[in-house]
Amino acid sequence: MIFFKMPKLTIGNRNASLPIVQGGMGVGISLAKLASSVAAQGGIGVIAANGVGMIEPDYYEDGRAANIKALRSEIRKARKKTSGLIGVNIMVAANDFQQLLDVAIEEKVDALFMGAGLPIRNIPVAKIRAANVLVIPIVSSGRAAELIFKYWEKNYGDVPDAVVVEGPLAGGHLGFKADQLENPEQALEILVPQVVAAINGFQESFHKKIPVIAAGGIFSGEDILRFLQLGAQGVQMATRFVATDECDADPRFKEAYLACRPQDIVIIKSPVGLPGRAIRNHFLDNAAAGVRNVNRCAWRCLDQCDIKHADYCISAALDNARQGLLDQGFAFCGANAHRVDKIVSVAELLESLKYEYEAAFIQNLVTLKDEYLKSIEKKFAGLRQDYLQARQRWINLSHEAGKAWEVRRDSLREDYDRAHRLANMLKHEYETALEKINVLMEHFPEKKGELQTLAQRFQADLAMNPVG
Ligand SMILES: Cc1cc2nc3c(=O)[nH]c(=O)nc-3n(C[C@H](O)[C@H](O)[C@H](O)COP(=O)(O)O)c2cc1C
Repeated sequence: MIFFKMPKLTIGNRNASLPIVQGGMGVGISLAKLASSVAAQGGIGVIAANGVGMIEPDYYEDGRAANIKALRSEIRKARKKTSGLIGVNIMVAANDFQQLLDVAIEEKVDALFMGAGLPIRNIPVAKIRAANVLVIPIVSSGRAAELIFKYWEKNYGDVPDAVVVEGPLAGGHLGFKADQLENPEQALEILVPQVVAAINGFQESFHKKIPVIAAGGIFSGEDILRFLQLGAQGVQMATRFVATDECDADPRFKEAYLACRPQDIVIIKSPVGLPGRAIRNHFLDNAAAGVRNVNRCAWRCLDQCDIKHADYCISAALDNARQGLLDQGFAFCGANAHRVDKIVSVAELLESLKYEYEAAFIQNLVTLKDEYLKSIEKKFAGLRQDYLQARQRWINLSHEAGKAWEVRRDSLREDYDRAHRLANMLKHEYETALEKINVLMEHFPEKKGELQTLAQRFQADLAMNPVG
């Protein structure tokens, strides 16, 4: 039944048949192969622009030019493989942010995901709109979303088309201070409704739907359902896509995910000044112990990078890891990477997520129904007690009335009438409840036995001593 299936995700004039965005993974982890496979299966595939030129042999001669060339080539490769939706993820903090943005716009990708900084100043909105490209900022709070939307409204007379809200369980660089990561108030479950509320007014004033996409630690189909129920229209997942055949990283990078245990997943302070989540290894232990591992800096690729004082070049470390050289670098990962236990195809992964989603949906309905029935039974039981008590009181009063009529006639008469009215009112409610039980029996045939017993008790009560 279509009702139980994952809903599609509509952003502006684009429709993804699945509400799943594959998160951009920089320095060559999500390139054309992964992105096109996800897009071909109905999700949104994302090529990460950050450090993409490191896959080119001449990166160390001209890093900027290599990034531009590689990004263009990866977008074109992905487009050749599928007509599905392809996005590009660009770090606002990248020194060549504007050039990468230009390439993505020229190549008319479906969506631009912009994170690691607020995409506010110098955004070529007119050019983006003319190329029919969607803009999707990545934020870590409702406040950041509001700031972006207010700035855009004031300066561009426009607003972004969707927002990704990335919580503290995500992989890669994180938009939180290290000491905020464990704060329950920063949980994605809290952030999603905050971001939904922050952009609500803009949906009204710009007369458009602005979906919120939840990211960070989303692992199963059940998780997807949970975040959609919290008000998100889609989810962004990265860690699960690393463990796929189509992920662009070396198999050794993927195997590091399979091998890692919860205690191996650590928070590092990246040379960019942001915390990041990664799999602990010798390289990171050495860096933590102050061993400097900087060979050369191709060009200052990230704005905030302080290579003079850094223990290593983050781009080179990530590039080495991408190539499987994990002793000369490290793998970024999400908090749930330790739960990954096999490498599957993108199609298999999406199938299992769909299956889990549907199973969770049905389980939710069953639980809901049980709770509903329980609450109804409780209400009926309470009503039954009230009715029986009222009727008893009325009977008692009628006996007393006979005995002591002369003495306390007036007050007894009043009590008697009141009890009589109450009993009559309850009788009416009781009869309505009986009808309701009969309707419930039709809707919940598997509960018929219990409901029938309840109905028989009600009928017997009513027949035993009808209230006149
Ligand atoms: C290996 C790796 C590299 C990542 N690189 C980037 C990146 O370059 N830019 C970015 O915005 N997010 C990056 N992320 C974050 C993901 O896009 C995504 O939002 C996040 O990891 C989702 O959480 P999950 O991994 O638990 O599914 C990266 C994540 C991983 C695991």
